[in-house]
Amino acid sequence: MKARPITTVKTVVTGIEAAGAGIKLFTLADPDAWELPPFKPGAHIDLHLPNGLVRTYSLCNEPADNSRYVIAVKREADGRGGSRALHDEIDIGTVIGVSLPRGGLDPDARIARYVFVAGGIGVTPFLSMARHLERTGQADYKLHLIVREEVPLADHLGALIEQGRIVVHRTSRTGRPDLAALVGEGGGDTLVACCGPEGMADDFERVTAAWPAAHVHIERFVAPPPVIDPDAKPFTLSLARSGAEIQVRAGQTMLAALQEGGIEIAASCCGGICGACKVGWIEGKPVHRDRILSPYERERYLMVCVAGSDAERLVLDL
Ligand code: FES
Repeated sequence: MKARPITTVKTVVTGIEAAGAGIKLFTLADPDAWELPPFKPGAHIDLHLPNGLVRTYSLCNEPADNSRYVIAVKREADGRGGSRALHDEIDIGTVIGVSLPRGGLDPDARIARYVFVAGGIGVTPFLSMARHLERTGQADYKLHLIVREEVPLADHLGALIEQGRIVVHRTSRTGRPDLAALVGEGGGDTLVACCGPEGMADDFERVTAAWPAAHVHIERFVAPPPVIDPDAKPFTLSLARSGAEIQVRAGQTMLAALQEGGIEIAASCCGGICGACKVGWIEGKPVHRDRILSPYERERYLMVCVAGSDAERLVLDL
């Protein structure tokens, strides 16, 4: 069966900067200094590391700067290995394949105010947002940065903290802030976004439950545990473009079935939070279990790492 190529862009590491609190900033550029594919504020990319791992990181430079991608990586000694590989094995000159940027927020003229809530290194997606909003003056914004004590990327955030754009909440001194108070009342022209650890993301989801979905954006560090459906039944994937049929065993993920069938699908988190494995669907009854697609997007797309099917046949745009 013909494999579906995964699109990556070849980049080379041109800068590595220690940024405090176990964090390093990596700058990636085209080897021949060509422009890189554009990205939206808050977008992320998958890094295809030389050791075979694929990991997703937020871009934190100004989106108008198309000469480089900058990511901030905190070394997680007990993580899944991506940050250790980047910190310990990657040098200036290392070649890294990256996916096309995805996600991020579309500039929306109806949004007059953004409220961002970040936990620690979760500040990274909001850095490119802040830089974009500072440059364009398109909307007002405030970034609440919740840390235990040390501020990540302090050298890069200092000016915005002084200006009052970033408000630092140190939980070691003041306890955890009230997220409901930080986001306030949801108005028609306010968009609120959160990036942080599981507990914070869950709290944020709870306090914004009554907000319009389009005005709430949540990014998680860690995928929730996989859903085990005891009633899962086998089903068939029909691939509309190739005409292939792939059987998904009861309890098997579509991602695993597609990969077994020789279809190359990009995947990073394998838990429905990064967006790497997004595939269009055409017919059927998908069961969405991801934490990233909007209701509108779910009418056309699903994440094959976590989605299931409520019908015997599901037609994918592959
Ligand atoms: S691999 Fe991350 S959402 Fe599927």
